[in-house]
Amino acid sequence: MRPLSPGSVIGILGGGQLGRMLALSAAQLGYRCHIFDPDIHAPAADVAASHICADYGDRDALVRFADSVDVVTYEFENVPVAAVEHLVSRGTCIRPGAQALKVAQDRVAEKDFVTALGGTCGRYRAVDSLEALQAALHVVGTPAVLKTRRMGYDGKGQARIYKPDEAAAAWAAISGQPAIVEAFVPFQCEVSVLIVRSATGELRSYGPIENEHVAGILSRSQFPAALPDFVTAQAISLAGTIAAKLDYVGVLAVELFIVDGQPWLNEIAPRVHNSGHGTIEGSVTSQFENHLRAVCGLPLGSTSPVGHTEMRNLIGADVDQWSQLLSDDTAHVHLYGKSDVRAGRKMGHVTRVTPFGPLR
Ligand SMILES: Nc1ncnc2c1ncn2[C@@H]1O[C@H](COP(=O)(O)OP(=O)(O)O)[C@@H](O)[C@H]1O
Ligand SMILES: [Mg+2]
Repeated sequence: MRPLSPGSVIGILGGGQLGRMLALSAAQLGYRCHIFDPDIHAPAADVAASHICADYGDRDALVRFADSVDVVTYEFENVPVAAVEHLVSRGTCIRPGAQALKVAQDRVAEKDFVTALGGTCGRYRAVDSLEALQAALHVVGTPAVLKTRRMGYDGKGQARIYKPDEAAAAWAAISGQPAIVEAFVPFQCEVSVLIVRSATGELRSYGPIENEHVAGILSRSQFPAALPDFVTAQAISLAGTIAAKLDYVGVLAVELFIVDGQPWLNEIAPRVHNSGHGTIEGSVTSQFENHLRAVCGLPLGSTSPVGHTEMRNLIGADVDQWSQLLSDDTAHVHLYGKSDVRAGRKMGHVTRVTPFGPLR
C-alpha cells in the first residue's frame, strides 16, 4: 500500500476511548475516521466523521464499513478473526493483520507463541474442566490465578486460588469457561513496552513504562521506569522480536512482570494501550500518532520522552474531580465523554510531565 495522503479515511474497529484518542490524533494529521462499534454511545463516535453501529459479527455491515475507508485498524482486539479474514480476502488492507489478533485473543496461544520465541513466562496450563484445573494446580502450584482464555480485560474473568481446595470456587467464579491457570508471579514491578513497527519493518519503542494496578485495573503509569539498562534492553528486544514475528504494523503493547531483574511475559495487546496515554504529552510523538503513521505507511515519529511522565486513570467516581483537576496547572486532563459513571469504568485520565533539565 502506498502512503495514505491527508484527506484519506481510516476505519477503526472499536469505538472506546482508545479509538477516540486515535481519531483525535488522526484529525491532527488531516485524516478522517469512520468508527465501527455496536454501542450507540461509543466515545470515539463523538469525534469521528461517521459511525457504523453494528455487531462485530455482522458481515454486511463490516463490508460496508471496509468499502468506505482506505485502511482499517482496530482498538478492540476481540473482533472475530473470521470476519477480519473475510475483509482481507476481499482486498481490505487491515493493519495490524489477523495473525496478531488470533494470537492475542487467547491467553494460552499468546504465552505459547512468546515462549516459542525464547521469552519467559510463569508456569501455566490450559484447563477446560474442574478436574483439569485440579490436576494443573499440582504442576503450577499455589497461589495461582485462573483466567478465561478469551475476552478478559481490566481483571475481569479472573479468580485467585490461594489453596488447592479453592479450585471449585474459582472454576465456578469464571463460569467454567475454557481457561488458563497461571502461577502467581512474585514480581518486583510491572512494566509495559509499546513497540511500533512500520510496514517496512522499522521498529521504535516506548518504555518500559512502570504500571501499578489496583483490583486488576491499571491505576497509574510512569516513565522512564527506574530499571537497569540491561533489563530495559531485554524488554525492548523481546517486544521487537514478537512484533517482527507477527509481521506486525502499528503499536503492539507487551505487558511484562519484572522478576529477579528479568522480564517475564504477562500478556500482549495488539493495539494502543492504556499505559501509553502519557505519551500524548510525555513523548515527542504519541502512541496514537505513531500507530496511525505505521498504519498509513508514513515515517515513524520520535518516541523519545520529553520528561518524567505520570499518568493516572480516572476510574468510576474519580471523574467527579474533573473541575479541581482543571485548576491544577500541572495536570493535562482527558475526559472520555462517557455519561454513565460506573464503578471500575475508565472515565478519563490525567497526565503530569516534569520536563527533563537542560543537561540531559
Ligand atoms: N500470574 C499473575 N501473577 C501475578 N499477578 C498477576 C498475574 N496475572 C495477572 N496479575 C495481575 O492482574 C493484572 C491484570 O491481569 P492481566 O492478565 O493483565 O489481565 P487483563 O487482560 O485484565 O489486563 C495484571 O496486570 C497483574 O497486576
Ligand atoms: Mg493486562
